[in-house]
Amino acid sequence: MDDPDYAHFNARYYLHQRYPGDIFEAEANANFSQHWIMPCYHRFYQQFHKEWDTSTATLLDLGGGPCIHCQISAAPYVAKIYHSDYVESCRDEVLMWKKKDPNAYDWSPYFEHVVNTLEGQNDPDAVTERIEMLRSKIEDVLFCDIRRTNIVPEIAAGKVDIVVSNACIENVVKSVKEYETVLQQIKNLLSPKGFFLTMANLGCSFYHIDGKRYPSYPITEENIVVSLQKVGFKVHHKELYLKSPECFKSYKPSNSIGRMFVAAQVY
Ligand SMILES: C[S@@+](CC[C@H](N)C(=O)[O-])C[C@H]1O[C@@H](n2cnc3c(N)ncnc32)[C@H](O)[C@@H]1O
Repeated sequence: MDDPDYAHFNARYYLHQRYPGDIFEAEANANFSQHWIMPCYHRFYQQFHKEWDTSTATLLDLGGGPCIHCQISAAPYVAKIYHSDYVESCRDEVLMWKKKDPNAYDWSPYFEHVVNTLEGQNDPDAVTERIEMLRSKIEDVLFCDIRRTNIVPEIAAGKVDIVVSNACIENVVKSVKEYETVLQQIKNLLSPKGFFLTMANLGCSFYHIDGKRYPSYPITEENIVVSLQKVGFKVHHKELYLKSPECFKSYKPSNSIGRMFVAAQVY
């Protein structure tokens, strides 16, 4: 069944399928690019955090779904985080986690991976501190619709220092032109030297969650870079993750050929 408007998106199924708790134990499982994306975010914050005032900086996770993994490396370097998504059940998952609801999704393996493996702290107290830090920095969980002119109605133009959008924009737009329009709206939200980070699924025309089929525009690396430059971003950094032919054949939930991480800045 096609679900292009996300009326039946199963947020909890998505979490279990895409963000399993044992993901970092399954080193051999090449289907999970989460092994790859977490270090991309980690390296970005290590390298660029001196570019903004960490005591006041605001981060917006746009189309963040039911997930917080992109925010773990960011938490020490920003003052406030706004999470946003179109689907209510996705926003509810994040709210449950923030409120320590006993039924909330368990993100602790992701915190352990960032704090212990990527940051090398190897300290259970540092993991607990990061969990509490992120809970306290998530200021609000907001509705967003990237098809609108005002993509996050509660956020004023020019007020965000970092926008992160992971695997979202290409799932919603139907053309490169529409992709550019969303980038323009993101730029409008950003402060004068604000950053935009995205992880995009490349060459993907669909993905499946719990028996529903979601469309995607098969965006290319070149489309993304050219669109960013066209709307006034400078691309600082990009990384590619291309699936092996075996992985492409065996991985059924989507037909993406790989992923790209990009860090760009308004200029
Ligand atoms: C593949 S999921 C990605 C979720 C998360 N960012 C991640 O990294 O796993 C795509 C997300 O796009 C959201 N979405 C769908 N339509 C949207 C729209 N019009 N505006 C903003 N987000 C939308 C969905 O609710 C879903 O959470």
